[in-house]
Amino acid sequence: MIIAIDGPAAAGKGTLARRIAEHLGLAYLDTGLLYRAVGMKVVHAGANPEDAGAATEIAEGLTPDDLKAPDLRGDTAADAASKVSAIPGVRAALLSFQQDFASNPPDGAKGAVLDGRDIGTVVCPDADAKLFVTASAEVRAERRYKELLERGLEAIYTAVLQDMKDRDARDSNRAVSPLEPAEDAYQLDTSGLDADAAYAAALNYINMRNQSG
Ligand code: DC
Repeated sequence: MIIAIDGPAAAGKGTLARRIAEHLGLAYLDTGLLYRAVGMKVVHAGANPEDAGAATEIAEGLTPDDLKAPDLRGDTAADAASKVSAIPGVRAALLSFQQDFASNPPDGAKGAVLDGRDIGTVVCPDADAKLFVTASAEVRAERRYKELLERGLEAIYTAVLQDMKDRDARDSNRAVSPLEPAEDAYQLDTSGLDADAAYAAALNYINMRNQSG
């Protein structure tokens, strides 16, 4: 069983994907981490994340250990990831990594949950269930802002909101695999939902798909 979960940054995909994977006993892959790992390796190599040659070479040599780097959750990684993810060579290199994970999930799991931007459209177009998780930019910026404050970091809401809008524009307007819902995806707007309500709605949809399939 393969479950694809796509959507913009901070829509609640990761939390949802992790809970669903645990509940159904499936392996979980946060595909954003792959782009973050490539982005940070490019930065550490002293190259520009928009340099297609350097970024593609690094993506082609990416190993599972690279996903354990400590600095992948920060803003530098997010910004570099958003830039390298627009490069076709990088996307091609990471495609097989993601498809291998989906068809041969680790630890004998009977399936996988992948979250990202193009899982339902490009990586796993035949997924058994596809969710497209959204929330307004304001709600997502508010969540990210609170998360930063809780981690003891300084943040300015208007700057977080602007950053969110810039990333949305880059993810949605790029030529290759832009962020867009698959035609057969279930669209879940979490703007007015807490994590438990979003989880209940997602599980309900997955159960329905299972019964009909
Ligand atoms: O989900 P995230 O914030 O960790 O993703 C980081 C960046 O990687 C984001 O700008 C979009 C890109 N990305 C992508 O293009 N395709 C994916 N499947 C996952 C992430």
